Amino acid sequence: MSTPPTILVFDSGLGGLTVLREIVRARPDAHFVYVADDAFFPYGHHTEDEIIARVVPLVGELIGAHAPDLVVIACNTASTLVMSHLRDAYPLPFVGTVPAIKPACASSKTRRVSVLGTRGTVKREYTRKLISDFAQGCEVTLVGSGELASLAEAALSGLQVRDEDIAAELAPCFIGDGASDPARTDTIVLACTHYPLLLERLRRLAPWPVDWIDPRRRSPAASPTCSAR
Ligand code: DGL
Repeated sequence: MSTPPTILVFDSGLGGLTVLREIVRARPDAHFVYVADDAFFPYGHHTEDEIIARVVPLVGELIGAHAPDLVVIACNTASTLVMSHLRDAYPLPFVGTVPAIKPACASSKTRRVSVLGTRGTVKREYTRKLISDFAQGCEVTLVGSGELASLAEAALSGLQVRDEDIAAELAPCFIGDGASDPARTDTIVLACTHYPLLLERLRRLAPWPVDWIDPRRRSPAASPTCSAR
């Protein structure tokens, strides 16, 4: 019998657990190591150079300690930046999580989509390229949230998180004149693995119903939600 693979799942915090749950479903036989770099959380507040300098050697140490067969970077803020550095540095397969812009734009009826991510993710060249390659004529609004990942961590730890604080982060995603505006935003890409932890509250606090594109799901339209080598 072959030995089950070891899969290392890495995030800045607890958001990657949303991805881990799906991988465990797909590969219940595997051995998992989950690492949350909470000493450096939130990644969205760090510069690109700081993230590269932090993540590349840290993942190297983790590879040394756990000898994984595969590494999943379950963090959009890191994946949109470090994947090529990791692949150049270590001879292992890496899978990343990146904003699901292609399926969102393919399914939007109003042709107006928002991408809600950390401030880092929405600034990335990688994210801009996904939009220029896959917007398919949609109007795409990038919304960088400074606090939503921290609010998700707080809520998961059992702390009280106020609706107003979540709603304030969400509001810039909703472009248009209410639910009857035919040109309103109808699709929001959750471009951070922390945000599905708040999905029920995001739905409840939305000014009108939209489709939420969840980073945990691989799209049937072969979206680049995951970037793999
Ligand atoms: N979970 C991370 C992501 O998917 C972001 C949280 C952070 O800012 O550290 O982007």
